[in-house]
Amino acid sequence: MAFGPIKFVNDKTNELKKKVGDEKVIVATSGGVDSMACAILAHKAIRENLIVLYLDNGLMREGESEEVNGYFTKFGIEMQTWDVKERFFEALKGKTDPEEKRISFRDVFYRTLRQAIKSYSAHYLIQGTIATDIVETQKGIKTQHNVLSQIGINPANYGLKILEPLKELYKPQVKLVAKHLGLPMKVYERKPFPGPALATRIIGEVVPERVEKIRIATKILDDTIRERKAFQVLAVLFSDRATGMIDGKRVYGDVIAIRAVESKDAITAKPCRISWTRLEKIRDRILAEVPGVVKVLYDITPKPPSTIEYI
Ligand code: XMP
Repeated sequence: MAFGPIKFVNDKTNELKKKVGDEKVIVATSGGVDSMACAILAHKAIRENLIVLYLDNGLMREGESEEVNGYFTKFGIEMQTWDVKERFFEALKGKTDPEEKRISFRDVFYRTLRQAIKSYSAHYLIQGTIATDIVETQKGIKTQHNVLSQIGINPANYGLKILEPLKELYKPQVKLVAKHLGLPMKVYERKPFPGPALATRIIGEVVPERVEKIRIATKILDDTIRERKAFQVLAVLFSDRATGMIDGKRVYGDVIAIRAVESKDAITAKPCRISWTRLEKIRDRILAEVPGVVKVLYDITPKPPSTIEYI
């Protein structure tokens, strides 16, 4: 039977209302379509008992916090922002192994949510987990940061009771729900962005200075590559360095790779055939605007054997 967003939203709001009663609920949003759809859905059901929380972890893209806040304001929702950059950087300090970085990110994320639950006297946490997250984690491809039970985390250890209203849906259905809820196209057509944010695009240690480099490069890509065909476009900072010249002097500088892929479901992907002229434009801006970069590469690897992200 075809999926109907109207019925889905009605059923889920009724279910949520019944389940949470008069208790306070937190929904943590990153600005992605999954968590935003969840937040608006829950707002319909719970109204003033819902706290929409945005954790400013220092790993988001340029202007992202303000943009997300703007969407919620339009719905009459006052988003709560917690500046928790320092604790995320502290947790990631000195870590270079990809899974170790993911685990640290997840740990500080859920510890912060536990603190939020306490400080708002909330009973439940709503998460935007969708079916793909669960499937990828079960297949052992990657420990998605929001799939708790599948990765051996007991939410109760973090003092959390979790509700996941979108967990039976795949991305195309989530987009229909988001559209039905009145979210703008810019949100429901947003390209996927991982939970651990720019940390997945930094090989080696995640420190503010390195995040800033990848933040600038990401902005350049977002300005330059706007094809809807591109499923994801990203820039990655390598930990290896290369010899180059800046202002006529020999330097051992940074290497940035650009990746743009076409994909339907993120399970397989192939590189986009970006025009040489466009690549040159991107290269010139990265070299001019990102400090210390001496090489810009274009990644032509499909998934498999590569993954889309680098960690
Ligand atoms: P990979 O890199 O495994 O990514 O080819 C597949 C898709 O999932 C996104 N991704 C994540 N999303 N938490 C998320 O919410 C994560 O930990 C995570 N890791 C990867 C990635 O951007 C791509 O769309």
